[in-house]
Amino acid sequence: MDTHIVVLAAGKGTRMKSALPKVLHRVAGLPLIDYVLAGAAALQARSTTIVIGHQAEALQCALRSRRNVTFVVQEPQLGTAHALLQAEPVLRGTTGLLILLSGDVPLLAADTLQRLVERHTSRGASATVVTAVVDDPTGYGRIVRVGEEIARIVEEKDATSAERQIREINSGIYAFAVEGVFGAVRSIAAENAQREYYLPDLVSIYRQRGLTVETITVSNPDEIRGVNSRSELAAASRIVREQKAAELMAAGVTIEDPATAYIDRDVTVGADTVIHPNVSLEGTTTIGAGCEVHSGSRIVDSHLGDRVTVFNHCVITNARLADDVAVGPFAHLRNDADVRERAKVGNFVELKKTVLGAGSKSMHLAYLGDATVGEHVNIGAGTITCNYDGVNKNRTVIEDGAFIGSDSQLIAPVTVGKGAYVGSGTTVRENVPAGALAVSAGKQRTFENWVEERKKKNRD
Ligand code: UD1
Ligand code: CA
Repeated sequence: MDTHIVVLAAGKGTRMKSALPKVLHRVAGLPLIDYVLAGAAALQARSTTIVIGHQAEALQCALRSRRNVTFVVQEPQLGTAHALLQAEPVLRGTTGLLILLSGDVPLLAADTLQRLVERHTSRGASATVVTAVVDDPTGYGRIVRVGEEIARIVEEKDATSAERQIREINSGIYAFAVEGVFGAVRSIAAENAQREYYLPDLVSIYRQRGLTVETITVSNPDEIRGVNSRSELAAASRIVREQKAAELMAAGVTIEDPATAYIDRDVTVGADTVIHPNVSLEGTTTIGAGCEVHSGSRIVDSHLGDRVTVFNHCVITNARLADDVAVGPFAHLRNDADVRERAKVGNFVELKKTVLGAGSKSMHLAYLGDATVGEHVNIGAGTITCNYDGVNKNRTVIEDGAFIGSDSQLIAPVTVGKGAYVGSGTTVRENVPAGALAVSAGKQRTFENWVEERKKKNRD
């Protein structure tokens, strides 16, 4: 049987109070809609349709790289039933199963969707609703049962005080038989507190027609949390992060304080790595085994080998750190920084588009930008590659075994040859051949008794 997915994402998301479409807000680093589409992908659907409306252009633009997704626009947004109707032209003439997902319900487990499909098909249902029993049902539609069977769903704003006591809620996720669903949805009226066309009204319509409506109830209510406000967004992030931390710990990673480990879903961390408090590991970051990441560091889209130490307060984005590297505290590695085996980067050092060769060191206060540094090079404190001439970025090459004295400036493009020495305080404007010494500071001048003489002059 064919499966078709429809995702509702046209609503305004009023309670977010945001200029950004709600489903683009990030839960633990990823947009809400990414979670929903990832869950949907597991169903290997024949079609996926996203109903957009409010800020449709921004949303379509953000999702333009998605293949096999059809957008339909709901304008104006008259409620969830009206939203589903917009998908009718896409699904006309198809049969099978329609899975309706909500763009703002990110945590649904793939096996719940699987269970939904199984229940729906095995019972030959016309509709199946995913429900949950929660402690605080505030804001959700309530499942009204007669005997065992679902009779209807009542929205909080339309519920009697007795109905508000019901703790079984509607997740907003359903399976429908495609056949007949649009006709039935068209018969939904907007006779309710919000003057909206409510999709949950389909339940009572089907029941009155004697059609089978089933439910499945998730055991973990977190799965069906909707995100309608910033605090619900934070709550969803917390759940994803707790889950991620638990997975990593189960796989042998030490996380000193899971509550302050901000590790995005797609990050990988090897066994026996220790993550100290207040560390953010983001995007596509991969971290090897036996590493230690000290507190206050943020690592984004970067790759760390094994036994790497990141001392406190480093910012590492789009960088590569090979095995046995140590960086920080307070290092900034960005934009293709490539630190090779056993190299060391110390405090207040910035690397950009720079290779720091195996065993090389830059321990204090340096800027290495657009540079290729060979192996076993020593970069003295305060070294700066002057890579920008006001128009172009130019490269600095420092060959194996070279020694750059403290407080030197290398005016790129320039090369310091193999094993060469650059004296402290040198401004290197010309290439330094292998094995040479370059110095540029003038001879020191010393004025004896200068301090005493100046004092005397001031007194006179
Ligand atoms: C909805 C359900 C409620 C359920 C809850 C679960 C209705 C009437 N109520 O309430 O029973 O407990 O979800 O989270 O369906 N949308 C559109 N077009 C519209 C209106 C909404 O595309 O005209 C989209 C929204 O962008 C959102 C989803 O539908 O992704 C749900 O809408 P929302 O307004 O958040 O409904 P809830 O009040 O949460
Ligand atoms: Ca909602």
